[in-house]
Amino acid sequence: MFPPPLALPFTLLTLISSVLAQGSPEDYAPNVNQSCPDITTAPLVRVFTPQNQSLHPGEESFVSERLASVIPQAWSDWLGDGSGIGYNLSAFGNESAKIGISISGGGYRAAQYGAGVLSALDARNQSAKHAGTGGFLQVTSYLSGLSGGSWITGSLYFNDWPTLEDMVFGNDQLSGWLLDIDLATPDGDDLFSEKNQYFYGSILWSVIAKANKSIDTSITDPWARMISYHFLNQTTRDNFFTNDTAHGAGQLWSQIPNIPAYQSHQTPFPLIMADSRPAGSNSTGKLPPEPTVYEITPFEFGSWDPNLSAMVNMTYIGTHLTNGEPDNNTACVTAFDQAGFMMGTSASLFNQVFDAGTNELDKFGSDGSGIVYSLERQLRSVRTRADDVADWPSPFHGIKNDTFEDSDSTWLELVDGSTNGENVPLGPMFVKARGLDTIVAVDGSADDANAWPNGSSILHTQFRLANVLNTSHQLFPPIPSSPEEFISTGVRQRPTFFGCNPTQIPPEFPLVIYLPNSPPLNGDDPVTNTGTFKIDYTPLHSRIFVDQAHANTIGGFLPKSESVDPNWGQCLQCAAIDRSRFKLSPVIPRSDFCSKCFFQYCFEPTSPPDGAYIIGRKLVFVDPDPQGFSKLADFFADNKLAFIGGLVGLIVLVACLIGFLIWRKKRSQKAAQAKYQEIALYSEEREWTSGASYDPYEEKDFRTPTNQIEFHVDAQRDSYIEGTVATAYDPTYLTPRGEQKDLYTDFHSRVGSAETDDSEGTVVGEEHHEQDLLGHERTV
Ligand SMILES: *[C@@H]1O[C@H](CO)[C@@H](O)[C@H](O)[C@H]1NC(C)=O
Ligand SMILES: *[C@@H]1O[C@H](CO)[C@@H](O)[C@H](O)[C@H]1NC(C)=O
Ligand SMILES: *[C@@H]1O[C@H](CO)[C@@H](O)[C@H](O)[C@H]1NC(C)=O
Ligand SMILES: *[C@@H]1O[C@H](CO)[C@@H](O)[C@H](O)[C@H]1NC(C)=O
Ligand SMILES: *[C@@H]1O[C@H](CO)[C@@H](O)[C@H](O)[C@H]1NC(C)=O
Ligand SMILES: *[C@@H]1O[C@H](CO)[C@@H](O)[C@H](O)[C@H]1NC(C)=O
Ligand SMILES: *[C@@H]1O[C@H](CO)[C@@H](O)[C@H](O)[C@H]1NC(C)=O
Ligand SMILES: *[C@@H]1O[C@H](CO)[C@@H](O)[C@H](O)[C@H]1NC(C)=O
Ligand SMILES: *[C@@H]1O[C@H](CO)[C@@H](O)[C@H](O)[C@H]1NC(C)=O
Ligand SMILES: *[C@@H]1O[C@H](CO)[C@@H](O)[C@H](O)[C@H]1NC(C)=O
Ligand SMILES: *[C@@H]1O[C@H](CO)[C@@H](O)[C@H](O)[C@H]1NC(C)=O
Ligand SMILES: *[C@@H]1O[C@H](CO)[C@@H](O)[C@H](O)[C@H]1NC(C)=O
Repeated sequence: MFPPPLALPFTLLTLISSVLAQGSPEDYAPNVNQSCPDITTAPLVRVFTPQNQSLHPGEESFVSERLASVIPQAWSDWLGDGSGIGYNLSAFGNESAKIGISISGGGYRAAQYGAGVLSALDARNQSAKHAGTGGFLQVTSYLSGLSGGSWITGSLYFNDWPTLEDMVFGNDQLSGWLLDIDLATPDGDDLFSEKNQYFYGSILWSVIAKANKSIDTSITDPWARMISYHFLNQTTRDNFFTNDTAHGAGQLWSQIPNIPAYQSHQTPFPLIMADSRPAGSNSTGKLPPEPTVYEITPFEFGSWDPNLSAMVNMTYIGTHLTNGEPDNNTACVTAFDQAGFMMGTSASLFNQVFDAGTNELDKFGSDGSGIVYSLERQLRSVRTRADDVADWPSPFHGIKNDTFEDSDSTWLELVDGSTNGENVPLGPMFVKARGLDTIVAVDGSADDANAWPNGSSILHTQFRLANVLNTSHQLFPPIPSSPEEFISTGVRQRPTFFGCNPTQIPPEFPLVIYLPNSPPLNGDDPVTNTGTFKIDYTPLHSRIFVDQAHANTIGGFLPKSESVDPNWGQCLQCAAIDRSRFKLSPVIPRSDFCSKCFFQYCFEPTSPPDGAYIIGRKLVFVDPDPQGFSKLADFFADNKLAFIGGLVGLIVLVACLIGFLIWRKKRSQKAAQAKYQEIALYSEEREWTSGASYDPYEEKDFRTPTNQIEFHVDAQRDSYIEGTVATAYDPTYLTPRGEQKDLYTDFHSRVGSAETDDSEGTVVGEEHHEQDLLGHERTV
């Protein structure tokens, strides 16, 4: 205890220094007019070709030092002497397979799915260790993330590589992801509540500080700031609505190498991804395979795509360069690589969901209003470039002007890494110079109406690798030839190894381990197939979510059984070490034990597995913490509707109730229809599989509206509410047993007031809400 006279100054001092240490939201602003390094001795851009590509020396030395100093011990901690899987580990010497893990996009769903999977591969988790799967993460050399997968990636590094459990749920030091606090409207749907206003104020303060440096901003900037509150380390439940900390502003991607766990080589090397749309194209749909795909490492930003094949120094991204040169010696920019902005760029999906005409964020439902609101307020204060993408000053202006599509542009327009259909960030793992042997695809995509993956993402990657990147990247191993085949072989509902039996030495493609988000193998109701635009989770839901993903990942599968496979952990060990065999001369033969594992877990195109081996899985999401109908009620209760008077709210509620009942009735009718659809699906499938020229980039829209109810209610003499409730049905999502039908409701309402002499009335509120009435929001 300090005597009173000393205590006060001391407390004040700690207070002041802690405030200083925590920074301010303004730290989001990059530094401009910085002096540039001497580029004659240390170029900022390096240019190469697919034939002479090389890694950044920082990446090269990190990866090789980890392989030499940390990973050998990690192998023996995991496999012991190897006898458990029929090998003698010391016979492998120091030749270890180089392994990567890629975590897909899909918002909070993907981040939590990634957390459940990584915890199941982590030797620090007891149940994972016990199952034999825990240990995989420790022998991994690379970790890549995209969109929601980039959030977990950033969060792991900027929290100094905690256990997944501590990172998601918090401990004495970490506050966890706080997923129950809505990402866009943290204080609830009333945008104008005092706390929401503090939140938006703080976010705008950051963005305006950036814009005040004459750097163009966009909707990605407030988005980046919102993400930082959850995934970076300076936000707690208590300081959420304050300006007491920078809430992650000022934390830079290029500082990852300073993080203690990185310094001691305890982490893999991180990569995140973003796509680009051709500058000025205003494209809003899915992208074809051609536009440049970028990656972000702690050292560099750039692309291995043959058309660009160039990288720029990460410290100076944000600097406009022409042919690699800054405009002048003091035109350099630093601190543009804000961790939040990197994660926001990778998850910048607004070009697909933002309607600039109406300023609506389609798909986000009422949650989008918070983002649009802060964008609009920002637009009033500062200039922006393309509103709906991440605007990056181009460091590659003038580079490769014969092949690089944006060579003429001074700006790059970066978008969500999944925009070209590749939702699992596998591209960087196949770069030839990286020489990866084994790659885990953690696929949390929501491809079907129940928000389960169907292989679509890796089909896109296989296509792009073969058709665009064949000179710069390794090839993808054989996989089912269409989403329908992923379904009929059951491969999308169990762990599967691809590329088990290469015909060359060294192997012509890496081994790919596919870990799709899938229903609990024990037949429990699934909670992990939520919508991409669901941006709040109750703590209970998160808990069960991560546990289900974890349980499936340590469980493996047994044919025609709902039990865990007691050998799965060791089978995963077999897969992890398998490619090391090929590094030795003579090649060590696969052990008998591992051969049995491979028989069970490999996909062999000539004798594909049978989907009927997968039994007893439930496919339809069941809310574990029921908010379903009451959430809809909250939605109306909290919204502007309330301003017009309780009566309208009540009538809308009744309308919804009626809608719900009609929906229920339709749903049972659908069951009858399903039988027919099932037959249709099967005949279609036969065509798919026989026609080998499946192009995943071909657009298909399976959604067919099946029912639409229009309503108009005169609530009071001077106000009305009208709109439509449309239901949509997706025939592709039937299982062989026809149980997987799903129905979506698209609720569009408009509340008007007719009290003025304007006979048309004034629209005072408009809502567009899309979710099924079980509270399962629709995903893209
Ligand atoms: C790769 O080759 C290109 C053209 O052949 C050359 O301009 C470039 O300097 C080379 N880069 C490296 C890293 O060797
Ligand atoms: C394992 O291999 C090492 C080195 O090749 C050898 O010394 C050792 O005797 C082997 N152990 C067994 C159990 O075969
Ligand atoms: C593996 O061991 C050999 C011989 O002991 C050595 O020459 C080589 O550099 C080592 N490789 C690594 C990656 O440590
Ligand atoms: C947050 O992370 C940064 C960068 O990793 C680190 O320097 C800082 O000490 C961390 N702050 C807290 C409060 O943990
Ligand atoms: C934080 O600062 C911003 C910008 O000055 C302001 O709009 C916001 O209200 C502040 N928050 C609090 C809690 O004072
Ligand atoms: C913009 O930056 C200038 C200094 O360059 C500063 O004086 C001014 O207060 C800033 N404005 C805002 C709104 O941050
Ligand atoms: C940077 O320099 C330019 C020209 O020298 C000047 O107009 C601008 O205000 C400076 N920006 C800042 C933030 O200092
Ligand atoms: C994109 O939009 C901008 C601004 O609306 C317009 O000037 C430009 O011509 C558009 N570009 C294309 C290719 O349509
Ligand atoms: C970026 O450039 C600076 C100045 O030349 C240099 O000190 C730094 O090492 C470079 N960083 C990377 C990651 O190459
Ligand atoms: C250097 O370039 C920057 C950015 O283009 C510009 O704002 C500034 O005026 C230039 N400074 C000089 C001294 O030319
Ligand atoms: C392309 O770049 C080369 C080398 O920098 C230059 O000589 C040529 O003029 C450029 N061509 C065009 C069309 O800009
Ligand atoms: C291991 O993971 C499971 C599933 O998420 C979790 O319940 C458990 O608490 C974790 N154990 C540790 C020690 O982190």
